[in-house]
Amino acid sequence: MFRTKTCGELNINNVGETVTLAGWVQTVRKFGAITFVDLRDRYGITQLLFGEELNKDLEANPLGREFVLQATGKVTERSNKNKNIPTGEIEITLSSFKILNKSEVPPFKIEDDTDGGDDLRMKYRFLDLRRNAVKRNLELRYAVGRSTRNYLHENNFMDIETPFLIKSTPEGARDFVVPSRMNPGEFYALPQSPQTFKQLLMVSGYDRYYQIVKCFRDEDLRADRQPEFTQIDCEMCFVEQEDILSMFEGLVKRIFKDVKGIDYNESVERMSWEEAMWQFGNDKPDIRFGMQLCNLKFPAHTFPTKANIAHLITSDFAVFSEAETVIGIAVPGCSEYTRKQTDELTEWVKRPQIGMKGMVFIKCNADGTYKSSVDKFYNEQQLKAIADAAGAKAGDLVLILAGAEERTRKATSELRLEMGKRLGMRKENEFKLLWVLDFPLFEYAEEDNRWVARHHPFTSPKPSDIDTMIHNNPAIENAAEYLKHPYANIKANAYDMVLNGNEIGGGSIRIFQRELQEKMFEALGMDAEEQQHKFGFLLGAFEYGAPPHGGIAFGFDRLCSILGGSESIRDFIAFPKNNSGRDVMIDAPSTIDAKQFDELQIKLDLK
Ligand code: AMO
Repeated sequence: MFRTKTCGELNINNVGETVTLAGWVQTVRKFGAITFVDLRDRYGITQLLFGEELNKDLEANPLGREFVLQATGKVTERSNKNKNIPTGEIEITLSSFKILNKSEVPPFKIEDDTDGGDDLRMKYRFLDLRRNAVKRNLELRYAVGRSTRNYLHENNFMDIETPFLIKSTPEGARDFVVPSRMNPGEFYALPQSPQTFKQLLMVSGYDRYYQIVKCFRDEDLRADRQPEFTQIDCEMCFVEQEDILSMFEGLVKRIFKDVKGIDYNESVERMSWEEAMWQFGNDKPDIRFGMQLCNLKFPAHTFPTKANIAHLITSDFAVFSEAETVIGIAVPGCSEYTRKQTDELTEWVKRPQIGMKGMVFIKCNADGTYKSSVDKFYNEQQLKAIADAAGAKAGDLVLILAGAEERTRKATSELRLEMGKRLGMRKENEFKLLWVLDFPLFEYAEEDNRWVARHHPFTSPKPSDIDTMIHNNPAIENAAEYLKHPYANIKANAYDMVLNGNEIGGGSIRIFQRELQEKMFEALGMDAEEQQHKFGFLLGAFEYGAPPHGGIAFGFDRLCSILGGSESIRDFIAFPKNNSGRDVMIDAPSTIDAKQFDELQIKLDLK
């Protein structure tokens, strides 16, 4: 037998037992005629003691870091105990050992606090994976998967695999394509999600489907995006939105309980998309803290005015009067910010990523006085009116951004998150779930002057909007007035689940009638021929008794990273890609042989 115990399980109760361990050498410490070695495996670290006899063998065959060792000996009580690790009260006084394999000196320390930079650790990911910190992340991922499977199994969901070599499924990204040798000149697309397949499974009567499945999207990468990532993909039939919300709230709460030991007993908050945009400036608000956006001036087409300070905003102060929109947030308890601090914040909003030209602030002093960066334009009474409109109390600092609607809203949203972070309001161990509902069904694509699906083309409109959709021509006559088109107001039967400001899942009740699906495709600019070419299989299936159905998909990697307290999903993927979509360990993507091109009958002619 290679080993009788692991390096993580022995303690004072095992003293006297003879054991054999196998693992990797973490450290070697020589003390005169004896040597201590920390041996590591997946389960922990155990100290080995090489006495004088064995030490001589060691001198002939010195051990190095990461050597693979098999060691037999007696469990003995340590004189110098380490209370920080479970095996810290014992050591193994060795009777024999065998070097199973040598190791080069690793390029970085295999420890929690490693000296290896990101690139190096990715190149040697197999070594990085030996580190505790990474191992813990993969363990958490496994626990999330296990909990998910248990819950879904208990609720009658059936895990069914769907193909990877398919035809494009539009989820808003580019496809990765795979050439077909047997069908020269033709390509498969890798699934951006199993969307159409899970719908077909509903038509087939598998009324509760799930799959923990890889999805492939060729899109620009960020900390929370990978070109191949994993979804918890689910679909149900004979359901309404409410059924889905409660089933999957249940799933996430179960995961919280199983993985984090958290009883999330409160019901999950809900917010319409419009409220989210209005109060938080984005569709995935972090509701662990308030500091909501206050619109001080409204572009004509958006929200009704709440604050009656129009005369102040349209005054001589051009930054406000000429801006499309003016939005403020009241940052609690920061009225005493110094000039240096407000200057730094102004620089922060001017960074290219935020893109504002400047920032106005009003200090609402504790003594009831007001001081601002616009004292030249407003007297104290007027400052108070603006600060009140922004929801400020004595002691708050009001930060105001002005400019074009979309950019300003986004920038204020970023500023809110930044201030929330700086003030410690985004606590790592606090979890707040939110459903965002009632999304618009369509988004306007300016470049093509047409509608695109906000979620995907299989999402149904709210029942009350179906008539509007069927009976109106989707064509947009007047681009400048697209918001007046009846389609601009159609709401989707769709929902996103947000956790601490991250979209962890999204789904919808689907269209299940051919006529409505065709109208949807038409609205997205597809003529009958294109519809047939791309989605004939689905339209056809809808003619054979398609049941009402709906579903959701969670970003598995994202969910894990949030539960694990990390911003980057890479930390929770065993072999992730870097920001250029490369696997630097295996060096992919790479060129292929001329023979492979020949077989595919493809000639490479790069532009
Ligand atoms: P959606 O496109 O919203 O919906 O994706 C569902 C969830 O997957 C995660 N996600 C990603 N995670 C990592 N890297 C990426 N590149 C990436 N893209 C998305 C997000 C997101 O909420 N078929 C529909 C679901 C449905 O309608 O049932 C879909 O894929 O957490």
